[in-house]
Amino acid sequence: MGDIQLTKSGPDKFDMVEAIKNEWIPFIKRYEMALIELESNFKILDLEWNATYGYSPIEHIKTRLKNPTSLIRKMEDRNVIFNQEEISKMITDIAGMRIVTGFIDDVYMMVDHIKQRKDLRVVQIKDYIENPKPSGYRGVHVIVESQVILSNTVVWVPAEIQIRTLSMDFWASLEHKLQYKYKNNDGQIPDKDKKLLHDVAESSFENDIKMSKLRKKLLASQHI
Ligand code: GTP
Ligand code: MG
Repeated sequence: MGDIQLTKSGPDKFDMVEAIKNEWIPFIKRYEMALIELESNFKILDLEWNATYGYSPIEHIKTRLKNPTSLIRKMEDRNVIFNQEEISKMITDIAGMRIVTGFIDDVYMMVDHIKQRKDLRVVQIKDYIENPKPSGYRGVHVIVESQVILSNTVVWVPAEIQIRTLSMDFWASLEHKLQYKYKNNDGQIPDKDKKLLHDVAESSFENDIKMSKLRKKLLASQHI
């Protein structure tokens, strides 16, 4: 399939979804392979840290592969042409992994760990804890290339690793559900409700800070 411009609509979009599901299988499978690799590597870490220190920063891990319809929607938003090379350069979250941690410090511990791994190349770090999104969203996103070893070659596959605390994840998951469910007003949540959601994000973050302070205090009192 050639480089279709996405200004077209109708059956072309259907053709693109079909192409992704059929001719593009080898391209898409690489992202699936990267997710298998990432998920198992971080589960191994969780086991190792628990076994060695009796503590792991990881609460849970989730992975998701972008489905063809949302991939096409994002290509349209970003004016990316229907070409595998362009897409792999411009759309870095086809493979996505989310690591949910206990405390804020654990988020940064994960970022430091990712930076020194030999099987990951860090491309970009977006710190939305330091600079939250206007909605109130917090988390650190690390865009990486993840090594995948194939039978005859090694490939580096782009992936987005989102790291956030339980409290940040609570907010983002429910806010996402509310956005998704809201169909009135062109899908735009009214300003006063956006403000309420923002307030909840702020108070969730205050809880994160309180728990961090408590942890520091308790650890200090144990002299470790
Ligand atoms: P995308 O085009 O969605 O990739 O946006 P971006 O490149 O400007 O931002 P980035 O990739 O850093 O973050 C996008 C992802 O972060 C989304 O797919 C969500 O998972 C998450 N995210 C960002 N903002 C919000 C938000 O306001 N609410 C929720 N629930 N999630 C958000
Ligand atoms: Mg993004």
